[in-house]
Amino acid sequence: MQDIIEQLENKRAAARLGGGQKRIDAQHAKGKLTARERIEVLLDEGTFEEWDMFVEHRCTDFGMQDNKIPGDGVVTGYGMINGRLVFVYSQDFTVYGGALSETHAEKICKVMDQAMKVGAPVIGLNDSGGARIQEGVASLGGYADVFQRNVMASGVVPQISMIMGPSAGGAVYSPALTDFIFMVKDTSYMFVTGPEVVKTVTHEEVTAEELGGALTHTTKSGVADMAFENDVEALLMVRRLYNYLPLNNREKAPIRKSGDTIDRIEMSLDTLVPENPNKAYDMKELILKTVDDGDFFELQPDYAKNILIGFARIDGQTVGIVANQPLVLAGCLDIKSAIKAARFVRFCDAFNIPVITFVDVPGFMPGTSQEYGGIIKHGAKLLYAYAECTVPKITVITRKAYGGAYDVMASKHLRGDVNFAWPNAEIAVMGAKGAVEIIFREDKGDPEKLAAKEAEYKARFANPFVAANRGYIDDVIMPHNTRKRIARSLVMLKDKKIENPWRKHGNIPL
Ligand code: HXC
Repeated sequence: MQDIIEQLENKRAAARLGGGQKRIDAQHAKGKLTARERIEVLLDEGTFEEWDMFVEHRCTDFGMQDNKIPGDGVVTGYGMINGRLVFVYSQDFTVYGGALSETHAEKICKVMDQAMKVGAPVIGLNDSGGARIQEGVASLGGYADVFQRNVMASGVVPQISMIMGPSAGGAVYSPALTDFIFMVKDTSYMFVTGPEVVKTVTHEEVTAEELGGALTHTTKSGVADMAFENDVEALLMVRRLYNYLPLNNREKAPIRKSGDTIDRIEMSLDTLVPENPNKAYDMKELILKTVDDGDFFELQPDYAKNILIGFARIDGQTVGIVANQPLVLAGCLDIKSAIKAARFVRFCDAFNIPVITFVDVPGFMPGTSQEYGGIIKHGAKLLYAYAECTVPKITVITRKAYGGAYDVMASKHLRGDVNFAWPNAEIAVMGAKGAVEIIFREDKGDPEKLAAKEAEYKARFANPFVAANRGYIDDVIMPHNTRKRIARSLVMLKDKKIENPWRKHGNIPL
């Protein structure tokens, strides 16, 4: 018995050491934590239950039969984040560069399968040189097995990917299929083909960081949601994100009440919107003053800044916020912002999170680059997302809601449950100047007449009452009451149930 216990302890020690002290030191020298250290930061202390510590690869080519490390380059299991269950896998770069073998993939699939059975999220900590080159197609098969599970889990349990080292080639597609991607600055990168191949094929000279670093993906491509300074910061932020999410699509997000009362009045909001309709203001101020404790977990803060998305709470309940940002491109909808918001709305809808939409939108961005880039199709994504969404939807129009963008931004017509407008809201086909220039084109040479017509158009349409007369707006509210009115609406909508017609799946414009 003593022998077996000793054997067990030795095996455990060997597994914990991964690729050995030298490689652990090299990992630390790069400013990276090891796979196990990362799990320790991510999970509540002492809650990690490890599985498959003794799994070894089955490869016999290239001398691999004499080169086995227990665990095979990935640490898997489950634990708790603030007392709530989560499954996790963490690739160990010290073992064959975290490269994915057949058995490494089987370990990942095992935790994903179990997460689906019990209904709990999966967090993947990625740090890998990609397919285990010695294993060839067995490794590719392993990737595809993970991809298939990513797709089956989509909309069933939240999936979060942390990129904490290399993620290259087809390996990027597992994170890409998950709900959120967090990257670490300077030590992580993601690309389908690396700088060498890029140079050969397109003659572009680019570094790995420029091609697929954290800043690239959080500012240019929109592939990743957030970038962090180091492993610890990234892991602690995932813990924060986790607190907003339900465990699965049949549950609601946890309630975390704060001392912030629901009838808190914010008088400063009455002067948030400038008198001049062409002057910008910061929509984030409205969000911060409306949600519990000013706590807004913004996603993709550095990408498509003309729309804001993220999680917050109202009376302790998680809500998803979507808001036009007048500070950037006057809050216009364009390709990037439509895609950014559409995916977020669909996440909220899949996971029972009410969506609150703050609207100040002058319309869709004009121009050849938008039209050639397919704004028709991409704008339709956001329209589709809002229209199919069945969770509670509350909309507040703070100023402009013009044209098609009015319809798209969670309007009453797209089954908005509660639609409010502030008193100075302008809900119209377009701004008064543009409208008059079109309908009174023949008076082009008569600026006085045009000005009079513009004033008439403004008086007639640049207000919330035409829409309110028709019931498209449920009430015109004072800005200082916004929090209170949203909170009451959420209480009213607590047990909302509507169902879309049966179908295999819709065909969202992709
Ligand atoms: C097996 C690998 C490996 C791999 C790295 N290693 N990548 N072993 N398969 N894919 C091993 C190295 O041999 C080395 O072993 C250790 O991991 C650390 O690697 P280094 O090169 O010393 O580290 P570093 O300098 O930091 O460079 C990391 C790296 C580089 C950029 C990831 O290792 C690299 O380019 N690797 C190959 C990447 C690649 O081509 N992968 C296949 C992509 S195709 P020792 O024993 O010396 O410590 C792909 C397809 C997926 O992934 C398709 C899915 C559909």
